[in-house]
Amino acid sequence: MKKNGFLISIEGIDGSGKTLLSQNLYKALKEKNLDILLTREPGDTTLGKKLRYIMHEEKETVCDMAEYLLMATDRAQHFEQVIVPNLKRGKIIISDRMGDSSIAYQGYGRGLNTSMIERVNQWAMQNIKPNVTFYVKIDIETAMNRIFERKEKLTSFEQEKTEFWQKVMHGYEQIFKNRTNVVTLDGTKTPEAVCKQVLKALTPYNL
Ligand code: TYD
Repeated sequence: MKKNGFLISIEGIDGSGKTLLSQNLYKALKEKNLDILLTREPGDTTLGKKLRYIMHEEKETVCDMAEYLLMATDRAQHFEQVIVPNLKRGKIIISDRMGDSSIAYQGYGRGLNTSMIERVNQWAMQNIKPNVTFYVKIDIETAMNRIFERKEKLTSFEQEKTEFWQKVMHGYEQIFKNRTNVVTLDGTKTPEAVCKQVLKALTPYNL
């Protein structure tokens, strides 16, 4: 499996601690001298950074369908320029978010057609699926408290109301309930404990 690279996606609502987990996991695997790459959606490519700006800062001018299609544009570019070449090089890739974010946020959260999103995602992802997905599960109140405590300028997503987050969380549960390669993590635990759980779950893959 390693010869063809290994793709890990990390999912969860905003404030779940997914980004910190991605960074901690990157460091832990790097210490084991593994050939590893940390990336994210949206915004890892030059085009992606521009799209990210539009989605975060100019949301009022972007309708829901356009929002999804911008995510899909970012994803297509990300797979073509980053994911596919690095999998070919045999790298282990950690992606902070991937296609499932669109099903949860634009599909369940915004109410767009989830089968359409799945189809377009598959196309943008060149039929590649993550080898394993880690879902950082957390209650909405804790997640929102963390976002406000950061005291950074809120993105258009972070300004959403509880009702939106309930839909997104329900979406994640629906998407993951029948998948075998998803590991659910308790996002209320310490960052160290969550990362330890991920490393343990990765042991059988012999990275
Ligand atoms: P970001 O600041 O990176 O937040 P996070 O660290 O939580 O990922 O912003 C990414 C935002 O974009 C986040 O609110 C989730 C959202 N998003 C979607 O709505 N659909 C998608 O397909 C992706 C990849 C992200």
